[in-house]
Amino acid sequence: MTEPAIVTLLESAADLDAILEVDAESFLWPWTREMYEAELRNPSVTRIFLVRTGAPVAGYCATWFLPGELHINNLAIRPAYRRQRLASGLLAHVLDAALAAGCQRATLEVRRSNDAARHLYEGLGFRLAGVRHDYYAEPVEDALVLWREPPAAPGQNG
Ligand SMILES: CC(C)(COP(=O)(O)OP(=O)(O)OC[C@H]1O[C@@H](n2cnc3c(N)ncnc32)[C@H](O)[C@@H]1OP(=O)(O)O)[C@@H](O)C(=O)NCCC(=O)NCCS
Repeated sequence: MTEPAIVTLLESAADLDAILEVDAESFLWPWTREMYEAELRNPSVTRIFLVRTGAPVAGYCATWFLPGELHINNLAIRPAYRRQRLASGLLAHVLDAALAAGCQRATLEVRRSNDAARHLYEGLGFRLAGVRHDYYAEPVEDALVLWREPPAAPGQNG
């Protein structure tokens, strides 16, 4: 039987080791340990969430909680754990935590060709807001800029 997913914040060096493993399995050009350590030196902004099913870390989401805005900087689920709605559950948790912290809006960038991620974000209410042409390297590719806005309050917008 599949264990229920549990989301926690990054707490230990072992958690960071696990994230580096997830990245090595997920990205051609993963973030380095030094890049994560630099992020973690800014704890008032950086929050990194991990999702586990049982003991192993299955994936993570690296974010900035900025005034009024959540920035999703990185997200990955290990290949062996994909298509089990772990990313959806993790992002729903992150969006709830962000809202509780006053971040009404959320944004991220995604490669144009990344259909899996684009479907995931669209299902969670993210919408295309702009394109950064040739933003990514190796391979060169556009970044789509997505935003998720709060629903309009009743009576607003006519
Ligand atoms: C993108 C990623 C995080 C999705 O993780 P996941 O846990 O498999 O996603 P979920 O199971 O929660 O999928 C939710 C929805 O996303 C969409 N989706 C996920 N994987 C998909 C795929 N391979 N193809 C098409 N749609 C996909 C589907 O709409 C899916 O809903 P469904 O299963 O009911 O059809 C994962 O594929 C991954 O780690 N990819 C490599 C790293 C990456 O690209 N990160 C994003 C950087 S912006």
